[in-house]
Amino acid sequence: MKEYLKSNIFRVISDVAEIEGVDAYVIGGFVRDILLNRPSKDIDIVVVGSGVDFARKVAQRLRARKVTYFKNFGTAQLKHNEWDIEFVGARKESYRLDSRKPIVENGSLEDDQKRRDFTMNALAIGLNKRNFGELIDPFNGLQDLKSKTIRTPLDPATTFSDDPLRMLRAIRFATQLNFDIELKTLDAIREMSSRITIVSIERVVDEINKMMASPRPSVGWLLLEQTGLLQHIFPELAAMKGVEARNGVSHKDNFYHTLEVLDNLSLKSDNLWLRWAALLHDIGKPKTKRFVAGQGWTFHGHEFLGAKMIPEIFRKLKLPLNDKMKYVQKMVLLHLRPIVLSQEVVTDSAVRRLLFDAGDDIDDLMMLCEADITSKNDITVRKHLANFRLVRKKLKEVEEKDSIRNFQPPVTGEMIMETFNLKPCKEVGLIKNRIKDAILDGEIRNDFFEAYTLMLNAGKELGLTAININPQYISLTNK
Ligand code: CTP
Repeated sequence: MKEYLKSNIFRVISDVAEIEGVDAYVIGGFVRDILLNRPSKDIDIVVVGSGVDFARKVAQRLRARKVTYFKNFGTAQLKHNEWDIEFVGARKESYRLDSRKPIVENGSLEDDQKRRDFTMNALAIGLNKRNFGELIDPFNGLQDLKSKTIRTPLDPATTFSDDPLRMLRAIRFATQLNFDIELKTLDAIREMSSRITIVSIERVVDEINKMMASPRPSVGWLLLEQTGLLQHIFPELAAMKGVEARNGVSHKDNFYHTLEVLDNLSLKSDNLWLRWAALLHDIGKPKTKRFVAGQGWTFHGHEFLGAKMIPEIFRKLKLPLNDKMKYVQKMVLLHLRPIVLSQEVVTDSAVRRLLFDAGDDIDDLMMLCEADITSKNDITVRKHLANFRLVRKKLKEVEEKDSIRNFQPPVTGEMIMETFNLKPCKEVGLIKNRIKDAILDGEIRNDFFEAYTLMLNAGKELGLTAININPQYISLTNK
C-alpha cells in the first residue's frame, strides 16, 4: 500500500503535519480504491484541526496556485499536477431530519470516520511520521472490502438519516463494484426509501449515471425496484413492471425485458446516452397497452408515445435538454423500424427512408435493435440476428449507392426562391419536400442536376414561373 503514497504530495503533507503538530490522514474513496487496485487522483485529507489552515500551508510548500477555500464549510480544494486534493477538518456531524444542512462540531478522527457512509469508505491511512502508511480501520472496512460487502459504520437508520442519498450510493457501489449490500443495510433502505425525496434530483441523477456506466446497470435498477426507491425517483419506469393475463393470454414483463436489453447493449457500448435509450425504448408501453380479442396484448404506437415522453422525463430528472435528449428521443422513436425492414420484402426506398431518419446514428440504432432481442429460444434469437445482418448489408449497399446518411438537400431553399422569385413561403417547402421524397423513393438519384430539373417541373405544376434559370445548370441537365 505504501507504494501508492510515494508521490511527493504525500511527503509534503506529512512534513506539514509534523511541522504544524497536527494529525493528518488520507481517507475515503482514495483509500478504498487503492485497496481495490483502482488508484485514483482524487485525494481526501482529514486533519484533526483546521482543514483550511492546513491546506494553506501545503499549498505554500507546493507553490500551488490553484487553491479554493470554502471557509463556510471549513474545506479547501487544491489542484496540483494531476492531483485533486480536498482538505477538511475532522468533524462530528449530525443532520437535521428535514434538511441536508448539518450541525457541525470539531471532532476526532474516529468521529469523522463514523459519520461516513460505508465501512469501506471510512478507511483512513496515517500520514504523520509515527503512523505513515498505517491503515486505521475501526469498523472492519477491510474485511467488508474483502467479502465485497456494503455496510454502514453506524446503525443504517442513523447513517441514512444523515444523508438519504447514501441509500442510492449503496446501490450505485453495489452495481459498480459488484458488491452485496448487507441485509440490515438493505432492510433500512427499504424502510426509509421515501426519505430520498428530500435529496436534490441532481445528486440522485449523478449516482444513477454512475450506475448506468457500470458493466451491468440492471443490478442497480433491480435493487432500486426491490427497495421501493424506484417508485420515488422514476415512477414511469416502475410502471413497466408486472404481467397481466386475460383469457389465459399474458404479455411479458416490460421492466425485466428492458433491463435485459440494457445489459445486452452495455456489453457492446459505453455510450451513456445509448444506454439511456435502451432503458427508455419501451417507456410508452404501459400507456399504450390494450387487449384486443383475437390478437392478444398490443402496444400500438408505443414508440411514438415513448418518444413524446422523453422531454418530460429528461426535464424531471434534470438530464440535459439538448442534442443528447434529441438523440435518445430519436432512438426511441425509430427502434422498431429495422425490425420492420427485416420482416418484409425490403424495398430500397424503405431502406433509404430509415437511413434518412437515423442519419449518422444508424449504427447505434442497429446496436439497440440487436440488444432488443431477448427471446429465450436460441433458434428465434439466431433467426432475428441473421435478419439484422441482412438489414445491415442492405443499409450498406444503399448508402454506398445513394449517400443518404448525411442527406443535404441538393437544391437549397435559396435556389428555389431565386429561381421562382419567391420570398420564404409554403411553396418553397413543398418543392423541397417533393425533391426529398423523389430521392428517397428512388424516382431520381441524389444528384444536383436531376434535382434541379425536378425543381423546375414541380414549380410549373404549382403554377409558378421560373424567372431566373441558371443557364449553366440547364445546359448540364439537358445533356
Ligand atoms: N461520503 C459520505 N456520504 C456521502 C458522500 C460521500 O460519507 N453522501 C464520504 C465517503 O467517505 C466517501 C467520501 O466522502 O468515500 C468522498 O465522497 P465522493 O468523492 O463523493 O465519493 P467516493 O467515495 O470518492 O467515490 P467515487 O469517486 O466513486 O464517487
